[in-house]
Formats: sequence, C-alpha cells, structure tokens
Amino acid sequence: MADVKSVGVIGGGQMGSGIAQLAAVAGIGVWLVDLDSEALKRATQSITNSVQRFVSKGQISREVATNALKNLKCTSNLEDLQSADVIIEAIVESEDVKKKLFSELDRIAKPSAILASNTSSISITRIASATSRPCQVIGMHFMNPPPIMKLVEIVRGADTSNETFMTVKTMAERFGKIIVCSQDYPGFIVNRILIPMINEAFFTLYTGVATREDIDTGMKLGTNQPMGPLELADFIGLDVCLSIIKVLHVGLGDSKYRPCPLLVQYVDAGRLGRKRGIGVYTYGKQQELVKSSSRL
Ligand SMILES: NC(=O)c1ccc[n+]([C@@H]2O[C@H](COP(=O)([O-])OP(=O)(O)OC[C@H]3O[C@@H](n4cnc5c(N)ncnc54)[C@H](O)[C@@H]3O)[C@@H](O)[C@H]2O)c1
Repeated sequence: MADVKSVGVIGGGQMGSGIAQLAAVAGIGVWLVDLDSEALKRATQSITNSVQRFVSKGQISREVATNALKNLKCTSNLEDLQSADVIIEAIVESEDVKKKLFSELDRIAKPSAILASNTSSISITRIASATSRPCQVIGMHFMNPPPIMKLVEIVRGADTSNETFMTVKTMAERFGKIIVCSQDYPGFIVNRILIPMINEAFFTLYTGVATREDIDTGMKLGTNQPMGPLELADFIGLDVCLSIIKVLHVGLGDSKYRPCPLLVQYVDAGRLGRKRGIGVYTYGKQQELVKSSSRL
C-alpha cells in the first residue's frame, strides 16, 4: 500500500477547501485547484481562519498550523497535479462535468495515482468509466464541514481494487476520520436517508403544514438533531440537495424521490442557501436587505 505524500484537491468551495485543510494539517503536501482565482483566495482565507481557530481551542499546536499553511499551494492549472499520489475531486455535482474532469485527470496524473471523488450521489462506477484506471477510482465522501465532521463514507465502484480502498482508508484515518464503506448505489448510505428527509421537509413547507421555523424546531427538539432539515439544506446548498434528490429519483426509479417543486423553485431563483446569503432563510447582508425592504 502506497504512502501518500502529495494530494491534489480540485474545487476550492466549501468542501474542497476543508479537504485541503485536512490533508495539510496531516502533514501532506497539497495542491488546491480551482478555475476561479477568487474561490482560491476565499479558500486560503477560510483555511487560515479555521486552522487558527483549532490553535486557539488547543486542538492543534502552533507548529502544526504553521506547517499546514506551508504545505498548501493553490493553482488553476490541472497540470500541477502530475506528481500527486491521490487526487480528490470536489467540483460541481454534475455527472457530465465530473466525467470530463476525470478523463483529463487520467491523462495528467501519474499511472499509480488514485482518483477520488467527493460526490454526494453520482455513481463512482460511471465516473470511473471515463478513465483507463477504474480500479484506482473511488468515492471519498466527506461531510460538511470536513475539518469538523468525523465521518468519511468510502464508496467502492464496481472495479475499485482492495489496494485503492486500503490506501484511501488509511489516508482518511490519518485525517482523524472514522470511515464507513458503501456499495455504489444512488445516495450511498447517508444521502439515501438524509436527502429524502430534507425533500419531505420542503413538501411540509410547500403544502402549508407548518412554518419553516416550526418544521426546524419540531425536528430539532423532537428527534434530537443539531439542525432542522431546512436549516441543514441551506447549509449543504439547495442546488446540491436538488441534484442529489434527482439522482435518487432517476437511479432508484421510485416516485417517492420526486423533487419538491418549492426546492426546484428556490434553486431556479438562485436561493442556494448560506453560500448565496439566501435559501430557505436569509443570512448576513441579504438578511439586512430583507429587513429594510420589509420596513418600506
Ligand atoms: N455542500 C455539502 O454539504 C457537500 C457535502 C458532501 C459532498 N459534497 C459534494 O462536494 C462537491 C462540491 O460541493 P461544494 O458544496 O464544495 O460546492 P461549491 O459550489 O462550494 O464549490 C465548487 C467549486 O468547484 C469549482 N469548480 C467547478 N468546476 C471546476 C473545474 N472543472 N475545475 C476546477 N474547479 C471547478 C468552483 O469554482 C467552486 O469553487 C459536490 O460534488 C457536492 O455534491 C457537498
């Protein structure tokens, strides 16, 4: 089993930046890749802030934090991933876009490199089919936010080798994570159960059963969850939730997975959740705008 010394992370959004942070803190050299240079600036800032919070809480030493920031390099050029031992993709949740990227990575990455996807729901077997190395393709599904959440769901495609599985499992454990292993079926374990619950919460709001606050409070206090399902949907991103429920609907062929029209409408309106300042709820500057327009 290969010792991982260098990792590439593609996508510097909420997930990719957190995954890059985990690898950097674990003492591994990281290239973080994003097409958008602004996303790379935001990622570097959020990693720096997050690492400092871990130091101030006494969870990592100052020396580990300083080295972690030295381990991290940002680029918009995929060719910089030529020497990476493991490449973890965390770009937009679209099968076509991911397959195109994996086919490019197959050309760029060294022959021994493992190609992992942080997809929430897309078939690893189909992503792997875009490469000439399906035995070295695997799902590595981190939870949001990756530096905090303990779980990594490892998803084996039809051809994923034991060696690939063991390398990725060892790396996830080095990141301080607990792993569960899922077969490659739509939604894997966590989202197969979580996303229909979020979709049902949208139906509950859509059909006027209760207000968004009562739905969230009901589920928080009634089922002992740290966040209500609508609040959680805003945190995950409504676009991400919608694409996962669509994958479940198509992949499992059951009408119980049909997306709630209200979720579809919010995504159409660009109400994507916390990352846009507005989703089911409003946040930050958007919250001020809503307050002032309601005073007019
Ligand atoms: N948000 C969550 O809670 C969550 C949880 C687990 C898994 N995921 C999965 O992780 C992936 C990323 O989700 P996210 O929430 O971080 O998205 P995000 O929108 O925050 O970030 C995606 C980033 O990818 C970049 N990008 C898009 N196409 C690219 C390309 N071809 N090359 C390089 N960069 C590119 C974008 O510029 C953006 O910065 C998705 O597959 C999603 O399903 C999300």
